[in-house]
Amino acid sequence: MTSTPVTVTVTGAAGQIGYALLFRIASGQLLGPDVPVRLRLLEIPQAVKAAEGTAMELEDCAFPLLAGIDITDDLKTAFDGANVALLVGARPRTKGMERGDLLEANGGIFKPQGEAINAHAAEDVRVLVVGNPANTNALIARSHAPDVPADRFTAMTRLDHNRALAQLSKKAGVPVSAIKKMTIWGNHSATQYPDIFHAEINGRGAAEVVDDQAWLENDFIPTVAKRGAAIIEARGASSAASAAGAAIDHVHTWVNGTAEGDWTSMAVVSDGSYGVPEGLVSSFPVTCSGGRWEIVQGLEIDDFSRGRIDASVAELAEERDAVRGLGLI
Ligand code: NAD
Ligand code: LMR
Repeated sequence: MTSTPVTVTVTGAAGQIGYALLFRIASGQLLGPDVPVRLRLLEIPQAVKAAEGTAMELEDCAFPLLAGIDITDDLKTAFDGANVALLVGARPRTKGMERGDLLEANGGIFKPQGEAINAHAAEDVRVLVVGNPANTNALIARSHAPDVPADRFTAMTRLDHNRALAQLSKKAGVPVSAIKKMTIWGNHSATQYPDIFHAEINGRGAAEVVDDQAWLENDFIPTVAKRGAAIIEARGASSAASAAGAAIDHVHTWVNGTAEGDWTSMAVVSDGSYGVPEGLVSSFPVTCSGGRWEIVQGLEIDDFSRGRIDASVAELAEERDAVRGLGLI
């Protein structure tokens, strides 16, 4: 076992994703079975007590890897020495709120968090934004952390990736483990594009195995893209355990690497690859190795895929322009 604990900061720790996430981090599933962790839980003052309750339960699990828990409503304390920052807490859209109101309310959260990460986090900090609108919240946080390399700011599309794997596995009648090279492009929103044209099922092209364009267009893509709304409709609350599971997967893959012959989906700061304007936080196929991600290059994008990628990227550009207009970046 390595001796120095890794500091993992979780914002919105008293929320539903926090409750599904913290126990898995403390049990070693985020970073590995040999890595001790120190948890820093950030909440708003009204929810600190609830976070304290969760911390009591964490303590009661007697996790051998859990080296300590700090609970705070102070940004400096929360991000001081953070090696991993999971930005989950966000302002949900409530009745009567326009998209601009939502972006502005979240700007009020992610701007100071970006500044605090810049000033206080560890040099190797890795940030995953889960709170919605995740891509643009990551853009805001990143633009207020000029001293942190841009590649350390990511947003979560791993849940969409996992949803796409599950739908394709059902359609093809194969286990999820038979599928490789799934891709989510663009925004974590209904415009996202889950792309099976580069995916493989037991080594064969997935689109060819399935051979059903009508299913792809009318079933697969909308089911994956609107799954978040379908969960809210069914559960009366947004996805929590699956979102926490995807956050665990995202960081675990980032730190420990993608498997040979496979890749994953992460929303990362674009370098202009595949025509996605530089600086937008957009989902790409990525491989990870040695704690770094790299966008998979050289994939052929046909007209069908191009149109869908462009539509989602156009939405991201609109969100960027809106937060720029609000003075948030
Ligand atoms: P929740 O409302 O149950 O919990 C959010 C928590 O964040 C609350 O405890 C709240 O007090 C806290 N919070 C609010 N502002 C904060 C701030 N400034 N600092 C620290 N904490 C703050 O919500 P949830 O179900 O846990 O979801 C959290 C976010 O994740 C939402 O924005 C949701 O839309 C998003 N989400 C994203 C994905 C994805 O795939 N990217 C999937 C599911 C949910
Ligand atoms: C999800 O994909 O489940 C969530 O992003 C939905 C939401 O709006 O919280």
